Amino acid sequence: MKITIIQFSPSGNSKVVTQDIIAMLESKHHEVNLLDITGDAAFFNRNNLQEYLAQRVTPHDVLLVGGPVYAHHMQYHVLDLIKSLPKPNDAWGKLAIPYVTYGGISSGVALKESRKFLRETGRIVPLAMKIVAPHRMTRAFMPEEFNSDKLKGEQLKDIEELVNRIGLLNPEGKVNDAGRSLHYNGIVTTLLAKTVFIEKTWHEKRYPRVVVNPAICTGCGKCVRLCPVAHLKKEGESVVTSASSGCIHCLNCVVNCPSKAVSLQGDLEKGRAFMSNMIAKKGNKETPGSAVYPILKSKISCC
Ligand SMILES: Cc1cc2nc3c(=O)[nH]c(=O)nc-3n(C[C@H](O)[C@H](O)[C@H](O)COP(=O)(O)O)c2cc1C
Ligand code: SF4
Ligand code: SF4
Repeated sequence: MKITIIQFSPSGNSKVVTQDIIAMLESKHHEVNLLDITGDAAFFNRNNLQEYLAQRVTPHDVLLVGGPVYAHHMQYHVLDLIKSLPKPNDAWGKLAIPYVTYGGISSGVALKESRKFLRETGRIVPLAMKIVAPHRMTRAFMPEEFNSDKLKGEQLKDIEELVNRIGLLNPEGKVNDAGRSLHYNGIVTTLLAKTVFIEKTWHEKRYPRVVVNPAICTGCGKCVRLCPVAHLKKEGESVVTSASSGCIHCLNCVVNCPSKAVSLQGDLEKGRAFMSNMIAKKGNKETPGSAVYPILKSKISCC
């Protein structure tokens, strides 16, 4: 089967999963092509997403789209990308599979909404997958990164299941949609995602601001290379920000600046208290933590 994967992995977790998926698909003799939008200025300074995709996406039977959960949603750039997919045709197959990594607080509505938007492009979503991973936001302002022990190989059993089930799909035949199985987080989570966890608003108003101190910055450019949305740019020896592609608070620049010139500004005590509360109440309580949907009946009855 020909499989195209589109991935966005601001801080590397989803990339680990994508690489495992590719290795397993190739070991089963599928042909795999990857489009990685991470850090691609052409994507983030886009005028025309449809054109961007048309120029880069290779013909396929099955499309996989992967990214992180941010504020209970599939990260918004991935959703924008999904909404811009052309209708299936001779080159672009009708089957699509979303997958996410998340930090063990909540995968929210990420798979459910990805499926909804994929359906609106005319696709069938037979499978979806979520994988628990280190919570990248916590690494910059909590005493330690939450779930730093995840993604150390335990993800492989779910990835293997996904790959085996992809191998059973018949792109030319009748394929069932994963539909209702993706409502696993219930109505309260859906309401909170709609009313409280509005990702773009959190980036604009709630997450602490990322600030570069020009007096300390040496102009080494590391943060620019690591910024997954091309928000940071070099101008001479200085680092400047792009107005057209906003910061998404992955915090790569904060934790990786060798001179500690990048800091978070805002009420960090409040942020710590909020996150501690979330971890205490919800940390690794979503059950199952990682899964391929729809969950196989044999798994429901046995575990
Ligand atoms: C801005 C931001 C928001 C996040 N929101 C959530 C969330 O709502 N629930 C959750 O469990 N993890 C959340 N996380 C953790 C990420 O989903 C997790 O670390 C993910 O694996 C990151 O993927 P990546 O490394 O491919 O970017 C968030 C992380 C960041 C940086
Ligand atoms: S990584 Fe730090 S020192 Fe290097 S350019 Fe960025 S802010 Fe400046
Ligand atoms: S500016 Fe820093 S925190 Fe914001 S998206 Fe770029 S690397 Fe991530």
